[in-house]
Order: sequence, then C-alpha cells, then structure tokens
Amino acid sequence: MSEIYLDNAATTPMTPVVIDEMTKQMKESWGNASTGYSFGRHAKLVMEDSRHVIAQSINAADNEIIFTSGGTESDNTAIIQTAFKRQNLGKHIITTAVEHEAVLKPLHFLADHGFEVTYLPVDENGNISIDDFKAALRDDTILVTIMMENNEVGSQMPIHEIGEILKDHQAWFHTDAVQAYGLMPIDVKADHIDMLSTSAHKINGPKMIGFLYRRDGISFPSFIKGGDQETKRRAGTENVPGIAAFAKAVELNTSAVKKERRNRYYDFKQKIVRALEENNIDFAVNGLINQTHVLNLWFKGISTYVMQTDLDLAGIAVSGGSACTAGSIEPSHVLTAMFGADSPRISESIRVSFGALNTEQDIDRLIKTVIKTTQKLKQINGED
Ligand SMILES: Cc1ncc(COP(=O)(O)O)c(C=O)c1O
Repeated sequence: MSEIYLDNAATTPMTPVVIDEMTKQMKESWGNASTGYSFGRHAKLVMEDSRHVIAQSINAADNEIIFTSGGTESDNTAIIQTAFKRQNLGKHIITTAVEHEAVLKPLHFLADHGFEVTYLPVDENGNISIDDFKAALRDDTILVTIMMENNEVGSQMPIHEIGEILKDHQAWFHTDAVQAYGLMPIDVKADHIDMLSTSAHKINGPKMIGFLYRRDGISFPSFIKGGDQETKRRAGTENVPGIAAFAKAVELNTSAVKKERRNRYYDFKQKIVRALEENNIDFAVNGLINQTHVLNLWFKGISTYVMQTDLDLAGIAVSGGSACTAGSIEPSHVLTAMFGADSPRISESIRVSFGALNTEQDIDRLIKTVIKTTQKLKQINGED
C-alpha cells in the first residue's frame, strides 16, 4: 500500500520540473555570482532573472527581494535588525500569541535586551481582533510582526486592515507569509507591507532557500556578517541553483493554480468533516473550515500520540503538534492560546495539511483510517 503524505505545512516534496531546474543550474550555473568573469556573470544573470520572477509574484520591485536561507532567517533578520535599527524611536513591538517559533524566539531575545513585546490574544478560531490591535498600538511602537496564515490551524490574519492602519504610523509592518505564499494572492503594495518572509520548501521548492521582501526606502545592516553579497544586505555566497529552482516553483504556482488548490482543499475539508459527522465520530475542528491547506482536528478522548501513530502505521503521515520528539509531543502554544492550557484539545488534536500532489483517493483513505482507528479505540476504552 502506498504511503500518503498529509503534512504539507511542515514541508512539501519538490516537483520534478523544479528538481530538473535545480540539477540543470547545478551543472551550468555553479560560478560565484559575485565574480566578474563569464562563470560568475552567467550565475548572476540566472539569479537576477529568478529575482524578477519572484518579485513579480508579490508585486514588488526586483531590488526589494533579498535571498536568504529560508523562513527562519528572513523572520530573524526582519525582527532583530528592525528593532536595533529603530530603538531610538521606541522599544515597543506588537505580535500575536500564535506566531511560529522563528518569530517568537527572536522576540524573546529582544525582550531580554530591553524591548517590550505585546502578544495579541486570539479567539477560538485562531484570529486576532482589530480592536485589540488598535488598543495595543502606541506612539513608541516600532515594529508590528503578524503572520499571514497560521501554520497549525490555518487561521488568516487581517493583514490588509493592519497595513491600512499602519500606513500612517511609524511602525514597520512585517508579515511571516511562509504558509500563505504558495496559496494566497499577495500584493505587498496594496497591503502596505514593509517586510515579508517566505520559504521555498513550503511551495514544492528546495530547502534552505527563501527571501525577505524589504520595501525600498527602509534599510538596516545585514543580519549575517561577512561579504557584500545581495548589495550588502545579506552576506554569504548566493545559492544560485536553489534560487533558480525557487523561481521555477513560483512560476508554476500561477494565480489559477493557487485558486484551484484553495478550492480543492476546501472540498477536502468539507468531505472529511461530513464523513466524520455521518459516522458519529466524536470530533471538532480547531479553527475554521476555510480555503487554506491546514485542517486541525480534535478527536475527543484520543491522545495525539496514539492517533498519529495509528495513522502512521496505516501509511498516512500527519502532524501531531508544533514540535514532536521521540515519544513526546510538546503542547501546542497555538491551541493553548485558542482554548486555554487546560483544554483536552491540546493533547488530543492532529494537524492534516494538504499539498499539490494530494488526491481525492488520499482523502478517502484518511477518512476510512480515521473512522476505523477511532472506533477501535472506543472499543478498547469500553465505550461501545
Ligand atoms: C509560519 C512559519 N514561519 C517560519 C517557518 C520557518 O521556515 P523555514 O523552515 O524555511 O526556516 C515555518 C516553517 O515551518 C513556518 O511554518
């Protein structure tokens, strides 16, 4: 029986065309893009063509794209460098309680260095309220960092409204779009976004490559210290084959493809929920059923570990939480923020996340396996 991969929020497989592009550029464009002879000039040309494709995908200018090693580096750079550059204007930062660790950990670091961080709470759907945001915003706020789409429950933050509010405020607006980039239309100008982080491996591209969009007109020193690459904005020899493969993944991901996927994932979600209801499975959705690729499900009375292991044994890979180490699953800070630390949902939920390659048949097998597992466990627990 073939294995089914339903953890696409963790990472995605590279598409064959993207692998072909990367292999081709590893053979042809291995020169150092900073050198002036033909090998370097060729690599630079490939890199700049890729930058153009990527810039267009979010309505940015080419010079606003800085290549990085991925989402974590882009988030760290935007947050830490903004804070230190602007500390003379204030030391207050606003974020949400449900950001990825790549945002939360740099903020903890800044809190240790005298910055004050406000964590906006979320409701049971994983959404913040604009009123809370307005109430938190102060004259000395220098940075707002709020994710576009949550990686655990798929909630979508009101990015456009926040951008509108901030366009007349001194605070720079950063958004972690790592999960949203492959699925949602993004226009950094229309949404007044100053900085935006992405990662190629979430959109069927290679690992360890991403970009930070940084609006023209704002600046800070390179976070990584070293050479003058990326016009002094990010030190280190550029990964040209990775960049070209990232651009190929972006090119394949047209607006029509994104729309088709959003609709397909929404249909998947509805099908799963309907089937579980029809079979009287005791469950609830953590968050909303929307058009994102993430569906977080609570199976009442069944531990995350048991459910995840049973599905794994049946050849289906799903996520058990934000961090999972051998035999133990860390409580999710996202579910804790949504439902409180005492909620059983924190230890009884799994995350299913869809990707480009998932089919209707994958969903049918997931449904069948989940129903079988929950019924079997109910029998073991003596509930039947
Ligand atoms: C929302 C979000 N931000 C940042 C990251 C980190 O990205 P990367 O793995 O490219 O460092 C992830 C990865 O899981 C993510 O989901």
